[in-house]
Amino acid sequence: AGGDHIKLMEVDGELYPNVGGEEQAKGIRALAEAKARPDDIVLCNYPKSGCHWMWEVINMILQGSATTIPDFKENHMIEFIPPNHMEAIPSPRVLNTHMKFSQLPRETIEKRCKIVLILRNPKDVAVSFYHHHFGIAKLYQYEGKWENYLSLFNNGKVDWGSFYNYVHSWEKTIHDNPTHPIHVLYYEDMKADSAAEVRRLANFMGVSLSDDLIEAIAEKCSFHNMVNDKMGLEDEKWRKVWRDEKPRMYRKGEVGDWKNWFTVAQNEEFDRIYAERMANSKLKFRFTL
Ligand code: A3P
Repeated sequence: AGGDHIKLMEVDGELYPNVGGEEQAKGIRALAEAKARPDDIVLCNYPKSGCHWMWEVINMILQGSATTIPDFKENHMIEFIPPNHMEAIPSPRVLNTHMKFSQLPRETIEKRCKIVLILRNPKDVAVSFYHHHFGIAKLYQYEGKWENYLSLFNNGKVDWGSFYNYVHSWEKTIHDNPTHPIHVLYYEDMKADSAAEVRRLANFMGVSLSDDLIEAIAEKCSFHNMVNDKMGLEDEKWRKVWRDEKPRMYRKGEVGDWKNWFTVAQNEEFDRIYAERMANSKLKFRFTL
């Protein structure tokens, strides 16, 4: 159907949003050679899994205070920022990416940089990604309808490809690299008990924080506080990217919103594909709390 295709750019067999044409393709190809620092933290996630949220939390843990970070995760996204920007970020850097382990800078692996992997259940990811594609209409040239979206999602016809390939790849990475420091964190667990997850994360990072500060960071990074604090900082240029000038990276922030979108038939079809694609996986996604 017309308008049901998401316009993307292919670089070496992988799909990306086309934000920078040939320059961007060069940047993606150069990423493997980027310099890493031993104290880099690399936040990895499939799109729409909670990157804005956890980038804020990790930065607050590092700065040791529950104060809004006057910067954006977009400025630290390694596949899109030019190498000189990446080198200009002061240490310790909280980099973020949707790339897989094998696509990270070689030095990130050699220097054993800490990796935080966020996972989120794919039904909520699909709904969130749909709003992203629909919302950034000019870039994606996408006018599609929800009823056709899940086949794009399930077939990986979206930026950074298939959700299933992504999680399988990381599961294999963890299995094959048992000594690389990789901390796995579920969006649903963060929603269920943010303070417990902030504490686990701080332990992984080797930062010791008081219980009060852990609570304060969890609270400062709650959905409603981040909508107010971060959106207030956003500039006009970024707002204009979105349909109706309405950014959707802070949209709903819940577990189980998919129930408001999936029809019974879509849910059955999704469950069938999920069961097939996840048959050999040990990952346990929670679709409700
Ligand atoms: P929804 O579209 O389901 O609301 P990312 O940051 O990786 O792009 O992920 C975006 C998703 O995370 C969106 O999901 C967004 O609302 C949600 N999100 C952003 N900040 C959040 C927060 N502080 N707490 C919970 N969810 C948050």
